[in-house]
Amino acid sequence: MDRIRIRGGNRLNGSIPISGAKNAALPLMIVSLLTPGALTLSNVPRLADVRLLQRILQNHGIDITVAGKRAGQTGMGDVMHLSAKDIADTTAPYELVSRMRASFWVLGPLLARCGEAKVSLPGGCAIGTRPVDMHLMAMERLGAQITIENGYVIATAKQGLKGAHIVFDKVSVGATHAALMAAVLAQGDTIIENAASEPEIGDVAECLVKMGAKIEGIHTSALRIRGVTSLSGAEHSVIPDRIETGTYAMCAGMTGGDVLLKDANANHLGAVIDVMQRAGVTVDIKNDGLRIYRNGAALEPVRVDTEPFPGFPTDCQAQLMAMMTMANGTSMIRETIFENRFMHVQELARLGSDIHLYGDTAEVRGVKKLTGAPVMATDLRASVSLVIAGLAAAGETMISRVYHLDRGFETLEDKLSACGADVARISG
Ligand code: EPZ
Repeated sequence: MDRIRIRGGNRLNGSIPISGAKNAALPLMIVSLLTPGALTLSNVPRLADVRLLQRILQNHGIDITVAGKRAGQTGMGDVMHLSAKDIADTTAPYELVSRMRASFWVLGPLLARCGEAKVSLPGGCAIGTRPVDMHLMAMERLGAQITIENGYVIATAKQGLKGAHIVFDKVSVGATHAALMAAVLAQGDTIIENAASEPEIGDVAECLVKMGAKIEGIHTSALRIRGVTSLSGAEHSVIPDRIETGTYAMCAGMTGGDVLLKDANANHLGAVIDVMQRAGVTVDIKNDGLRIYRNGAALEPVRVDTEPFPGFPTDCQAQLMAMMTMANGTSMIRETIFENRFMHVQELARLGSDIHLYGDTAEVRGVKKLTGAPVMATDLRASVSLVIAGLAAAGETMISRVYHLDRGFETLEDKLSACGADVARISG
C-alpha cells in the first residue's frame, strides 16, 4: 500500500491548480441516469471515488467514456461522456454501495426514470452513523412505496412519482440531491424546504436546467420544481473544488509563504476566507483565483463551529484543526454536522499537538513545535489534516493508508511539491 512521506519545514510558494469538485462530479455523474441522451461533463477530477462511481453506473448499464480535453475547453480534468440509453439494472448492490455512500443517491433517479429501484443501505461510516431516513422520507412524499428487506431499500412508483411538498427537518446535502433528482421527472410541482444550499447542489441544479428541468430557487434553501416528462443530454463543466481550495489555503497558512490557488471560486468560500483572515492569513481575491499568504505574521487562534453552507464546512474542520495546532493560543472548534469526525485528533497527537475533546468541541492549544512521526489516515479529510501538520513538523512524517487521500485529492504530492514542499509518494 502506498504511503506519503513528508519532510516538514518548507514554506509554500507558487501556484496550485484547483481541480473540479468531487462532491459535484459524483452527483452530476448520477444525473446521467435521468436521460437517454448523452451527458458530457468536463473538468471531472481524476479521483478514486470518480472511478468507483463509474463502475457502479456501468453496472446500471450506463455507457461511459473518458477523453482528454477538447479544443477550447477550460479546466484541467477529464471530459466524461455518459449515456444511459437503456437502464440495464435497477439494483445497486451492497458490494458497491458500501464502498461509497454517495452511490446510494442513484435511488432517486432510478425511481424517477424506471419506477423502481433496489439499492443497498450504505452501512457504517468512519465519521458518524449517517442514516438515510430523510432520503426515504423524500421518496415517500413523492409517492414511492418503500420497504427494507435484507439490507436493501426496495422502492417502487409504478404510476410514476408525483410532485409534493417536502420539508426537511435538518439540512442534508444527500437528501436534497435525492429529492431534486427525483422531482425533476415527477408529475406536477414539488417544493423542497430547508434544502441544502451547498454550491455542489446549485451545480447539479444548473446542469439539470440545461437538460430541460424546470427549477426555481437554485442556490437557495427553497427549491421549486415543475416536473417534466423527459430530460435531454447536455454539456456541463464541474465547479472548482472548494474543499480542495480550503485545504491548500490551510497548507499555505500553516507553512507561511505565498500561494495562488488557480481557478478557485471565492464565492463558495466566504466562511473559510473569513476564518483564514481571523487566523492571521491574508487572502486576496484575484481574477484567476485566490492568493493566500502569511509572511512572518503569527497564526492566531480562532473559534469556529461547522455549519451547513454558507457556514464553515465540516469537510474543512480537520484541516483547520491541523493549522491551529501551531497557533499562538487556544482555538475552540465545534463539529455540529457529524458526531464522530475527530478521528484525526489522536493522529495529530502523535506529531506533538495538544488537543482536548469535550463532546462535540475540540480545544486546540497551540504548540511551538510539531515533530514528524508515522501516522495513519482514517478518512479523506482527516488524512489531509495529517499532511498539513506534516508540512510544518520538524523531520519526517510518514502517512499510511493513503488510499483515503486518493479518494478526494488529485495528485496532491505533485501539487504541493511544485510549490516547494518535500512530499513524496512511496509505492508498495
Ligand atoms: C455530503 O455528505 C458530502 N458528501 C460530505 O462530504 C459532507 O461532509 C456532507 O455532505 C456535509 O456537508 C458528498 O457530497 C458526496 P448530509 P452527505 O446528508 O450528503 C444527517 C467528504 O469528505 N442525515 O448533508 O452524506 C447526517 O447523518 C464528505 O467529501 C440524517 O440524519 O451528508 C449528518 O449528521 C464526507 N438523515 C447530517 O444529516 C439523512 O437521511 C448532514 O449529512 C441524511 C443525513
